[in-house]
Amino acid sequence: MRIDIITVLPELMESPLGHSIIKRACNKGLVEIHVHNLRDYTDDNRRTVDDYPFGGEAGMVMKIEPIWRCINKLKEERHYDEIIYTSPDGEQFNQQCANSLSLLENIIILCGHYKGVDYRVREHLITKEISIGDYVLSGGELAAAVITDSIVRIIPGAIGDESSALTDTFQDNLLAPPVYTRPAEFNGWKVPDVLLSGNFKEISLWQERTAIERTERLRPDLLKKR
Ligand code: ADE
Repeated sequence: MRIDIITVLPELMESPLGHSIIKRACNKGLVEIHVHNLRDYTDDNRRTVDDYPFGGEAGMVMKIEPIWRCINKLKEERHYDEIIYTSPDGEQFNQQCANSLSLLENIIILCGHYKGVDYRVREHLITKEISIGDYVLSGGELAAAVITDSIVRIIPGAIGDESSALTDTFQDNLLAPPVYTRPAEFNGWKVPDVLLSGNFKEISLWQERTAIERTERLRPDLLKKR
């Protein structure tokens, strides 16, 4: 899979994408992530990527020309399955969305900034708009990092223990069961006996039961989607 991220703040993408599972997935050749500085696609000395909005509102708007040039250059090189724009008014991101994006070959993520992009970008160049939640971030970079992380970690081979991504919270519209590690007792707080029993059938039943109990208590809305 290949993910191209277009941003005015490329430095902001380095750390979230440079560690742990994502770094390993890149090193294993499971995913290629390319970050493009939108300013490299400007044609003026000041490398201008934004301008005042028509109509006189406050704030700045991302200009269409650099975005068009960058997306067009990438599209000349390969086919893209989705061209995503990160925005608080996009479709709400969730695990199902991450699952389907992880099956694609090539995607572009355009990070929104300022008051957003010239609306013609959304009308003519973007195929999907994603919000990571009902709150406003300073820019779309953190949203792009969240989306990229959630996609990459479920690409087969990205996580050492293959089964581990399948038991993630939300994969089944269920919260994950509690997990514990050594010591079996700390401060008098004990790990449930069943997990120490070695009886894998019992352990699996316990995990299923506690997953359902936690979901009923904390996220009953998820059970309706099952
Ligand atoms: N840009 C600013 N806020 C955002 C959000 N909640 N989701 C995606 N992109 C954003």
